Amino acid sequence: LLTKLKHDCATPLPILQQVADAMSAQMRARLALDSPTQLAMIPTYVHNLPTGNEKGLFYALDLGGTNFRVLRVQLGGKQERVIAMEFEQVSIPQHLMFGTSEELFDLISSGLAKFAEKEGDKFHLPPGRTREIGFAFSFPVKQTSMDSGILIRWTKGFAVTGAAGRDVVACLNEALKRQGLDMRVSALVNDAVGTLAGAEYWDNDVLVAVILGTGTNACYVEQINAIPKLQGQVFPSGRMVISTEWGAFSTALPLTEFDEEMDAASNNPAEQIFEKTISGMYLGEIVRRALLRMAQVGGLFGKSVPQKLSIPFTLRTPDLCAMQQDNSDDLQSVGSVLYGRTGVESNLSARKTVLEVCDTVIKRGGRLAGAGIVGILQKMEEDSEGVIFGKRTVVAIEGGLYENYPQYRAYLHDSVTELLGMEKSNNLVIQLSKDGSGMGAALLAASNSMYMHEF
Ligand code: BG6
Ligand code: GLC
Repeated sequence: LLTKLKHDCATPLPILQQVADAMSAQMRARLALDSPTQLAMIPTYVHNLPTGNEKGLFYALDLGGTNFRVLRVQLGGKQERVIAMEFEQVSIPQHLMFGTSEELFDLISSGLAKFAEKEGDKFHLPPGRTREIGFAFSFPVKQTSMDSGILIRWTKGFAVTGAAGRDVVACLNEALKRQGLDMRVSALVNDAVGTLAGAEYWDNDVLVAVILGTGTNACYVEQINAIPKLQGQVFPSGRMVISTEWGAFSTALPLTEFDEEMDAASNNPAEQIFEKTISGMYLGEIVRRALLRMAQVGGLFGKSVPQKLSIPFTLRTPDLCAMQQDNSDDLQSVGSVLYGRTGVESNLSARKTVLEVCDTVIKRGGRLAGAGIVGILQKMEEDSEGVIFGKRTVVAIEGGLYENYPQYRAYLHDSVTELLGMEKSNNLVIQLSKDGSGMGAALLAASNSMYMHEF
């Protein structure tokens, strides 16, 4: 079973290249086509990235797949940059992922109301002005302007009723009204776009941002004349950030029976296949399914099959990460994670097998994520030679998976270097962006502020 798993998950160079090429080709095709399936290639209306000149008090709301954050920042322009910044984070209660749109947006707006009450004198706004918000919303949205957009569908296990097909800013405004809060959303951004804007604020060479956390997505700076679906519209900068929604990509991926079973059991079967292969929400579950089969068919844990191992999502990606950091001879930590999560007693040989399963699934995930990044860079370079590999280019990455899982990170970097070769990867910087997408959302709220002309 282990040999078959390794075979099915293998990502030798030709497979990585096929994935990168398919990513480039589909990006190009979907820039001409408005279709919510596969890569949606969403024009974000973000055509000016932060410059450093942004000034004033701005709030951000950041709804990710696992956490919800509120943030406020006092921006001081080129010299002072960030004068003061405060944020709070809460994890999204499980029941709200399956509740109604009102319940979810009420949680967000009451969190914001409580946070706004605590605004101290480090922050100030000229009298008579409305507080403005950047809303980082980590789900696929068809933007209709920089401050409005229709939710296409939920991803990452969410199944909230009454929001798909609606303008999420309208949903938020209604909830703000119910709270009696007088604030205005000036920018609605995907988390990848927030990450790009936040990273660009400090470094002008950032052209691509990637989220590798609960879910996954990537965005990049595209030339307007390469976006046929925006034909006829004029944007003075000549550029626009495109949110690829690459989680929906599914071509040329090496998949196993466990991926197929997990997909069939999910609440969005046949959707988000790349996301289900490379992102944090799913990697632990793929390993659990493989281990369960090995226990049932191969007697991995002796004669009995640990009952808890049959429960979906009992193993989480952070558990795999904790196990893979165990360098001891008897793999003590592997044993205690397995015992803690599934109640199973394991011997050394079983623990070694478990580690091999983890490594196989993590290796595939990290290497495919790297191939996706190369696909984007390749597409940008094909359109204007030298724009990527001829100079320093930065890819900013955000998300718990990339940040906390050293093996995943290393596999991703290896795959990029293997695909590009030393010369091309020399000028390429792939780095963690630590500000979160909320900061970028606040910066974009500043550049789209209704008071901009008054700065
Ligand atoms: C964060 C963003 O920093 O990264 C979120 O602000 C985003 O909106 C996230 O979804 C990804 O993180 P996670 O929690 O899925 O690892
Ligand atoms: C999911 C969402 C996408 C988001 C990503 C990372 O793929 O569809 O919009 O950016 O997760 O959070």
